[in-house]
Amino acid sequence: MSKLAINRGEKTVTIPQRDGWEQVTEDEIQIVTDMLRRGELSSAGRGVMAEFEQEFAEFMGAKYCLSQNSGTSTLHAAYFAAGVGPGDEVIVPSYTWHATATPVLHTNGIPVFCEIDPHSLTVDPDDLKKRITPRTKAVAVVHLFGYVANMDAIMKVADEHSLIVIEDCSHAHGAEWDGKKVGTIGHIGCFSLQASKPVIAGEGGAIITDDTEFYERILILGHYGRIARDLVTEKYRHLGNMGIGWKYRAHPLAVGIARVQLSRLNELNEKRGQIAQYWDEEFSKLPGIEPLYTYPKAKRGGYLGYLLIYHAEELGGLPKEKFMAALQAEGVSASEGGYGGNLHLQSLFNGFNFYGDRGCPFGCLYVDKVRKYEKGSLPVTETVAPKVISLPVFTEPPDGLIEQYVDAFRKVVENIGEIQ
Ligand SMILES: Cc1ncc(COP(=O)(O)O)c(C=O)c1O
Repeated sequence: MSKLAINRGEKTVTIPQRDGWEQVTEDEIQIVTDMLRRGELSSAGRGVMAEFEQEFAEFMGAKYCLSQNSGTSTLHAAYFAAGVGPGDEVIVPSYTWHATATPVLHTNGIPVFCEIDPHSLTVDPDDLKKRITPRTKAVAVVHLFGYVANMDAIMKVADEHSLIVIEDCSHAHGAEWDGKKVGTIGHIGCFSLQASKPVIAGEGGAIITDDTEFYERILILGHYGRIARDLVTEKYRHLGNMGIGWKYRAHPLAVGIARVQLSRLNELNEKRGQIAQYWDEEFSKLPGIEPLYTYPKAKRGGYLGYLLIYHAEELGGLPKEKFMAALQAEGVSASEGGYGGNLHLQSLFNGFNFYGDRGCPFGCLYVDKVRKYEKGSLPVTETVAPKVISLPVFTEPPDGLIEQYVDAFRKVVENIGEIQ
């Protein structure tokens, strides 16, 4: 028994928590400099942008890829492409970043929240099934923090009910299900390339699909200037080059950065994957600490986060906050995990009306009238979300640091009775 750091014992994590992985290398600096020198500052799908889109599509195994200005705009484009319109329902997990759900409102659709599986924190296919109504058009699946959702079960439900499946892969670049990259298992794959993501543009996004109709609708929504050139069929030809007016194309310099980043993704995933696997094995040996479940057909990727579920009942009922305080005293950078706020209980999705008495053109009006989410309406999500603990993601940590994290957890668990 060694004394806990929180009780004036010695700290376990002594190695400086500096990651050796360089997020931005000379290669990114070089490509941006070259593009600046060439004046490649706006592009309607030519030059580096065309190269990136081709490489991203090839990497993912998709027929089409379009780069965009954010992950949020790729989700709007996906819902629009899927034909979501006034009153249509899109089922989304309540446990995700709000940008998975907010773009549904911009198609005048209604986000309908579903439960997550309490072990993988991804869409629960059985609950998904229960939320389907005649108005359900699509489902958004999030591969949260790189943990892949149960795609076989989700696709089965979707196929039975003719739903369009949109994969939000913003945390999971390069992850796989049954040997296929996520984003290609459903009908449309959306990726954020924002600066905290595994492939960064700074700000940006990429959207992929194999479906020509979806691709053309994504083009006409946000890619004026390349519509006439890039349309495959004649269906939308009458629009000329105008499109619908959202300007969603990406900044070429951002795409240049993302192009280099994509070439480093396999290495990043390999390194992060080894750490995640080691932690999964070690943490699962400890009582009260549950690493998130990885389905047998899944290969995690992106690894935007490393999450654990804390079961106080297995550790003498010690509240999570006190457990985390003890970990932090040991030097572990543990923080509140994932998304504490359940979207279904947020004002934006639960009665907020942008336009007062004049009504609301967005789905929020329908939410207000049709969907009122009381506390307790998604019990699994509401129960598991507060139990999540998040650890930092390391790619090239200094020798011994990853092991010290495990030692710190073990020490706190073994001395749990000493925490006041
Ligand atoms: C799951 C998820 N979806 C969508 C987005 C939106 O991406 P962006 O910030 O690039 O618009 C994010 C951003 O963090 C996200 O975490």
